[in-house]
Amino acid sequence: MQINNTFIFEHPLLQHKMGILRDKNTSTKDFRDLIEEISMLMVYEATKDLPLKDIEIETPLAKTPAKALAQKVTLVPILRAGVGMIHGITELIPTARVGFLGMYRDPETHEPVQYYCKMPDDITESTVIVLDPMFATAGSAIAAFEYLKSIGCKDIRFVCVCAARYAVDRVFAEHPDVSVFCAALDEELNDHAYIVPGLGDAGDRIYGTK
Ligand code: PRP
Ligand code: URA
Repeated sequence: MQINNTFIFEHPLLQHKMGILRDKNTSTKDFRDLIEEISMLMVYEATKDLPLKDIEIETPLAKTPAKALAQKVTLVPILRAGVGMIHGITELIPTARVGFLGMYRDPETHEPVQYYCKMPDDITESTVIVLDPMFATAGSAIAAFEYLKSIGCKDIRFVCVCAARYAVDRVFAEHPDVSVFCAALDEELNDHAYIVPGLGDAGDRIYGTK
């Protein structure tokens, strides 16, 4: 299903995995493994239009034309929870580089606070895939898009796991050029700006910190 610039995956395997991920009784190990699997499956789809270039290779029998990715891919996980998505995606795109953006939400204002940033030098030439399992008020993701655009990135995509309707509408209003990919779209945010039903605090569930 597509709503403006957001793609919501309805594949049965993804929906099955989402049911286990959301369950509060799912263990830390299973939660972490599922975040990786879901991320990999979504990125397979989110990259289906990556540009290719023509190359020539040699099989054991003959020279033949072949294809290769025309530009680099850079993953930009938002710390902490986005880090839990890297491994599944690098299994699929082993040449992907990783830039890190550290951000946390102020518990009172829910506004993002940036505390770390380390990007590859030539990131502007690559397809950039921002990663964060949770897309609640969209504050963290929008801060990431604004930073990436300010340094010259042009092809920016966002892969999350669970999105709130509020975030999806906000990003369409402010960054309609960024394609968003998610495995679930939830209607509610609670008083703490948590997604309901959501899946809880993704960072804590990935790292077993609560
Ligand atoms: C969570 C989550 C996102 C952000 C989403 O991070 O991982 O980064 O909140 O909310 P938003 O769309 O309203 O910005 P959190 O601040 O809990 O930090 P953590 O990943 O270090 O736990
Ligand atoms: N961060 C989370 O980890 N979960 C939410 O529901 C919202 C923000």
